[in-house]
Amino acid sequence: MDWREERTMISKTTRNGWLGRMAGAALGLAAIACTSSSQAAAPNPEPDSTPVKIGIIGTGHIGGALASLWVKSGHDVLLSSRHPDELKSLAQSLGSKARVGTPHDAAVFGDVVLLSVPYGATPQVGHDLAHELAGKIVLDTGNPYPARDGQMAEEARRKGTGVASAEFLPGVRLVRAFNAINSGSLASEAHRAGEPMAIPLAGDDKEALAVAQRLVKDAGFEPVVVGPLSRAKEFDVGTPVYVKLLTAPQLRKALGLK
Ligand SMILES: NC(=O)c1ccc[n+]([C@@H]2O[C@H](COP(=O)([O-])OP(=O)(O)OC[C@H]3O[C@@H](n4cnc5c(N)ncnc54)[C@H](OP(=O)(O)O)[C@@H]3O)[C@@H](O)[C@H]2O)c1
Repeated sequence: MDWREERTMISKTTRNGWLGRMAGAALGLAAIACTSSSQAAAPNPEPDSTPVKIGIIGTGHIGGALASLWVKSGHDVLLSSRHPDELKSLAQSLGSKARVGTPHDAAVFGDVVLLSVPYGATPQVGHDLAHELAGKIVLDTGNPYPARDGQMAEEARRKGTGVASAEFLPGVRLVRAFNAINSGSLASEAHRAGEPMAIPLAGDDKEALAVAQRLVKDAGFEPVVVGPLSRAKEFDVGTPVYVKLLTAPQLRKALGLK
C-alpha cells in the first residue's frame, strides 16, 4: 500500500470537520488496567475517570481524529504544529479541553504524547525533544514508507517498527498504537454499534500499555495487546491484519493470540 492510500478520502481541509461526525459517539471512560499483568485487558471495577493530559505531535489525519475522540471522552489535549496558528480553529471547535502549541509544548504538556508524524520525522523528534519526552508514555502511530521517508523506512520495515521506533525515541515509554487503522476508519468506526473494532498495541512497559488500552477504549475501539515492541512487526504495513477492520476476537485469531 502506498502511504497516500492510508488516508482514504479525508483531506487536510476536513481537519475541522471531525467533531461534528463524532457528535453521536458514545462517551465513557474505561479503566486504566494497572494490574500486575497489563497483557490482560481485565476490566477495572472502578473505572478511572481522571482526565489524561495528552500532547499531540503531528495533528494531521490521525492526530486530528484522535484529538477529537479524546476531547469528546473528557481528556485534555494540546494539539501541536510547527505552525500552531493553523490549528486554532480546530482547537476552538473542540472547546475548552483543547489548546494549541508547538511540538515542544505538546511534549511538555502531555503525560501521554501521541506521536503521529511522517515516519521520516521520528528521529528528529526523538532527538530534538529527548529531554521533554524522557520517561513519558508515547503512543507512536508512524508507518515507514520508503517513497516518503527514504532509506530509513526500509530499515525500519526490516527491523519492525517497534524495534526501530524505540531506537529513534530512547528513554520514552513507547507503545505502538493506531498505526494499523486508516484515518477514515478511525473517524467512522469509533464507538460503532455492536462489537468494537480492534486496535493492536505493542509495548515493553506494562503501565504504558495499560494507559494505551484505556485511551484506545476511550477513543471507541477495543485494545488488543499483541506483545512487546519486538512483536509490533506483526501489525506493520504489509501484514495480513494491516488496515483490516477486525473485531478483537478476529484480530486475536489472525495473530494466533489467546
Ligand atoms: N493517514 C492514515 O490513515 C494513517 C494510518 C495509520 C498510520 N499512519 C501513519 O501515522 C503518521 C501520521 O499520518 P497522517 O496521515 O496523520 O499524517 P499527516 O496528515 O501528514 O500529518 C502529519 C503531521 O505531522 C506533522 N509533522 C511533519 N513533520 C514534522 C516534524 N518534523 N516535526 C513535527 N511535526 C511534523 C505535520 O504537522 P505540521 O506541518 O502542522 O507541523 C503534519 O500535520 C504517519 O507516519 C502515517 O504513515 C497514517
